[in-house]
Amino acid sequence: MCGIVGILGKHEVAPMLVEGLRRLEYRGYDSAGIATVNDGVLDRRRAVGKLVNLSDLLVHQPLAGKSGIGHTRWATHGGPSATNAHPHRTGPVAVVHNGIIENYKDLRAELAKAGIDAETETDTETVAMLTKLHIDQGMAPVDAAFATVERLEGAFALAFLFDGEGDLMVAARKGSPLAIGHGEGEMFVGSDAIALAPMTDQITYLEEGDRAVLTRTSLEIRDEAGRLVNRDQRTIRMDAARVDKAGHKHFMSKEIAEQPTVLAGALSAYLTQSGIALPDPGIDFTKVDRLTMVACGTAYYACFTAKYWFEQLAGLPVEVDIASEFRYREPPITPGTTALFVSQSGETADTLAALRYCAGKADSIVSVVNVPESSIARESDLALPIHAGVEIGVASTKAFTCQLTVLLLLALKAAQARGRLSDDRLTGILADLRALPGTFNAALDRDHVMKEVSQDLAKARDILFLGRGLMYPLALEGALKLKEISYIHAEAYASGELKHGPIALIDTSVPVVVMAPKDSLFEKTISNMQEVMARGGKVVLVTDAAGAAIAGDEAWKTIILPQVPEVLSPLLYALPAQLLAYHTAIAKGTDVDQPRNLAKSVTVE
Ligand code: G6P
Repeated sequence: MCGIVGILGKHEVAPMLVEGLRRLEYRGYDSAGIATVNDGVLDRRRAVGKLVNLSDLLVHQPLAGKSGIGHTRWATHGGPSATNAHPHRTGPVAVVHNGIIENYKDLRAELAKAGIDAETETDTETVAMLTKLHIDQGMAPVDAAFATVERLEGAFALAFLFDGEGDLMVAARKGSPLAIGHGEGEMFVGSDAIALAPMTDQITYLEEGDRAVLTRTSLEIRDEAGRLVNRDQRTIRMDAARVDKAGHKHFMSKEIAEQPTVLAGALSAYLTQSGIALPDPGIDFTKVDRLTMVACGTAYYACFTAKYWFEQLAGLPVEVDIASEFRYREPPITPGTTALFVSQSGETADTLAALRYCAGKADSIVSVVNVPESSIARESDLALPIHAGVEIGVASTKAFTCQLTVLLLLALKAAQARGRLSDDRLTGILADLRALPGTFNAALDRDHVMKEVSQDLAKARDILFLGRGLMYPLALEGALKLKEISYIHAEAYASGELKHGPIALIDTSVPVVVMAPKDSLFEKTISNMQEVMARGGKVVLVTDAAGAAIAGDEAWKTIILPQVPEVLSPLLYALPAQLLAYHTAIAKGTDVDQPRNLAKSVTVE
């Protein structure tokens, strides 16, 4: 949700800033802009729409300079326009910002009295305006920026650049992530290490409340109380920051195809000869009475799937909640509760706030994350990486299946610790899991079938997804994927709930995707499928060979996946959820990797 990058470099920075923004574009793509200082003169270029528009603008109106900041925006305050695009500039100060300044109206009123009026509708502009006021009052640029940061309420990652200062940048972090990159006589800032990967692998993550003063050869960090502090400098694995489509047309299709590899990687990170190993301090499931799981979006559906696993396999009561609802309900967290947060980015504002609500109340805070350096990982007692690698497509795919993998391993560990799973059964499930990447590969071979079905789905105005048991959360994920990237209205229901209302929606124009492996609930799901067909509904049955043999002939279309044990079915049935959405979106001609109005990393409430 907004990406920022800053460079004090040795060479012209405009192309480097644009490359950094390209790697951050998944965070937002309403507009983009850069500002530089060239021979002491601050200037900027901004363009509405995708980053390519800024690149085009820079061809016609180049921007010279070896110091600069850049921004790619996901609009919060003020619509997408060139005026509202960052960097925001007031007098000698330019600022890029990720987050929300909650007290911007109060600040704006105060600044208006001092004769400084806003030119944009954004919250961010007040940061530049206030800093200018402080400079007008006689403060040096660094002090002026620090004094501004003191006044800000809300969440921010900020980078400041100043007219007349070619070797100075100020950065600050509260609630939104920010990384500093170290070069040889160069210094960088970025929303994440991925942005900085072409320039450096030496990264220092700012902590909550930190402010930093950068020159090309120095970095000074102060904490919220103003004390000078040391923060670790670490080397980032460059392969972890690779951002390319590897010959695929879209990041989403690359990430879908990568799943057998990353699933194998996630499994090998947790499986040993003797079973499942968690990093220290582990979890003593014999002492856990209740699990509270919280997440957003696709990660929420991973939690919802895991609820079935934890309850059925381990007999452990589980509550699952949407992060944006959780803390405002003020749920009591009783002793014996372990709180578990699932997040690809590890920076989702609502999930992080839910974690902070539970800190000090729950016995233990556990997170399942893709970014080990993220805020959610760092604020957890135990952070379990999912090893999915960088995920760029806004619609989450491989992160979902890797989240499911780690959550299933946790549920199995819980079942074993609580004496609900024999060693033999565990060994059997783990053997099936080890075989899953191969099975997933075989399922990927069915891509052409899903592509064909999608040509018809693309003609629909509304689509329903149905599932029972473990397939219910998968139906929800299928509907979410479809609406996210194809913009077709899609809803999911538990199959058994259909007759309590949604069945009224069924007519011959509504395709109904029924997720139904030949599992213990198959017959019941098929009865619900019959109810749909009896009302003219067009059923796309997603099943296995055994299921197709029973019900395939009656369906409008049938997609046959390889057979997997029931407990593993969510991992495999994620694939049709993803591919149906992908191919339908392609058929509709939408922007698959950057769907309208969405952003991948949602760092505002
Ligand atoms: C956004 C993304 C979703 C993602 C959700 C949660 O809405 O578009 O794909 O599932 O955020 O993100 P997280 O990083 O916490 O998993």
